[in-house]
Amino acid sequence: MLRTHTCGQLNISNLGETVTLCGWVQKSRDLGGTTFIDVRDRYGLTQLVLNTESDAGLREAGRELGREFVIKVTGKVLERSNKNTKIPTGGIEIAVTELEVLNAAKIPPFLIEDETDGGEELRAKYRYLDLRRNPIRNNLVLRHKMAQEIRRYLSDLDFIEVETPVLIKSTPEGARDFVVPSRMNAGEFYALPQSPQTFKQLLMVSGFDRYFQIVKCFRDEDLRADRQPEFTQIDCELSFITQEDILNIFEGLTRHLFRNVKNLELGDFPRMQYADAMRLYGSDKPDTRFGMQFVEVSDIVKGKNFGVFDNAELVVGINAKGCANYTRKQIDELTEWLKRPQIGATGLIYARHNEDGTIKSSVDKFFNEEELAKWQAAFETEPGDLILLLAGQTDKVRKQLNELRLEIGSRLGLRDKNKFSPLWVLDFPLLEWDEETGRYHAMHHPFTSPKPEDIALLDTDPKNVRANAYDLVINGTEIGGGSIRIHDRELQSLMFKHLGFSAEEAQKQFGFLMDAFEYGAPPHGGIAFGFDRLASIFAGLDSIRDVIAFPKNNSGRDVMIDSPSTIAEAQMNELKIKTVVS
Ligand code: AMO
Repeated sequence: MLRTHTCGQLNISNLGETVTLCGWVQKSRDLGGTTFIDVRDRYGLTQLVLNTESDAGLREAGRELGREFVIKVTGKVLERSNKNTKIPTGGIEIAVTELEVLNAAKIPPFLIEDETDGGEELRAKYRYLDLRRNPIRNNLVLRHKMAQEIRRYLSDLDFIEVETPVLIKSTPEGARDFVVPSRMNAGEFYALPQSPQTFKQLLMVSGFDRYFQIVKCFRDEDLRADRQPEFTQIDCELSFITQEDILNIFEGLTRHLFRNVKNLELGDFPRMQYADAMRLYGSDKPDTRFGMQFVEVSDIVKGKNFGVFDNAELVVGINAKGCANYTRKQIDELTEWLKRPQIGATGLIYARHNEDGTIKSSVDKFFNEEELAKWQAAFETEPGDLILLLAGQTDKVRKQLNELRLEIGSRLGLRDKNKFSPLWVLDFPLLEWDEETGRYHAMHHPFTSPKPEDIALLDTDPKNVRANAYDLVINGTEIGGGSIRIHDRELQSLMFKHLGFSAEEAQKQFGFLMDAFEYGAPPHGGIAFGFDRLASIFAGLDSIRDVIAFPKNNSGRDVMIDSPSTIAEAQMNELKIKTVVS
């Protein structure tokens, strides 16, 4: 090895030793006669001292050095007179006797420090330099530790890691597929897996019993802070288990990770019905770090000649605690924020519970003191609180109020990144109506089993059929989702029928799975965690981008390697793809 130690290793116990270090020049200060250099590697930072007055060679070498040069130095470990207590190597410095430049470097386009002056675009283009910065590197180290602990926990429970193929056939997981043309089968395409769903089920038929894989998945969907076109799942499947077993094993995994990676004991993992989550939070992934549950008040507020309420399917609100001091201007701003197309509310109605005990609403004309007292009781307001109400069509108004609740929660500082609030959401609907295609879609995926007691409703009341499906939510982020699967050919065919597949279509697309079910398929179920999302929550980040070494931007581009890109005409011809001229 070129070095004897790393740049994060030496301390007072090494005094007097002659050592060799390699690393990057973080900064260099020429004090005339003495030059101080901070050399950095993945492990830390060490101060070097060059006595340039007495050593002409060192003087020359020192002069040449610029930021991010790669160097190798040999010297003696000395005690520092001016100690830096903030870093582990801060008690020592190296009196350099030999300095070799291993490679020069151009001036980097942004500061390679914890706080950088580089904008997002620039840092993405030079991602390999951004990855030299401590905060980003630490995220990847954290991710590595998590992966190690995941493998340890699952392996100890007899899970076997099996790799499944990446060139597969389209699986209907709700998003669009990325496809890959096949040269040897002109006109045909592979699809990249949105998840290994069907393969892990086949592994159960094969008797593997407990499978896991930390696996790349690909989905061509609109990107957001918590979505990347390629992302990683902790994908798991088990045979001969109940939903209860799965919830316990994966609560266990989550606890194991928090304990061993973050040194944190999590509290309870409460469970909530999907229907309650929608009613109380307007979301299937409620942020339960704070309360502020919805209060439905249609019964109280209707019939007072106020059209907005009278014509609404649902009037629902929240108690924004301590917000009665919001000025008219602030409330107007909030209303405008709610009216943006992304949220689409038509208006906001409010009532202040003033410090003097009186209640003043924005619709006083329709609601007298006696009526407002009912509001107060429903929302259990205290002086200083602010009631915020929305009215409209149930699904829409719940969604809008969810946004408002999260916004107020953020403003009130209730969404603390160091607090972790897990929640299981259970009993999702099996089917979801899709306006665009005018038919039902599987809310989770088509392999999820309906609750046996609801199967009869498939014909009469499909939207009320509940699934044996569950999600793990932490701090308002969907961390994982799974279900107990169908393992019977007949029920699987029935499911495809209800999803609008003809028997032929179902056989063509999923015949392999349904055929397999006829050769002794065990009852099985599973779950997949979004590894990037879990890692970003561990790292306290809002976006999953910085727990991924080389992420894509919001347009799905990798600006560093400039992908996607066009391919050569010859390549197109070989793949029998016609050039599209726009
Ligand atoms: P699902 O589609 O719920 O289930 O995905 C599982 C988890 O993967 C994460 N996730 C994503 N993370 C980053 N970027 C994305 N684009 C993205 N999409 C999903 C989420 C999500 O909870 N096969 C089933 C699992 C099963 O039934 O066992 C599946 O893929 O955290």
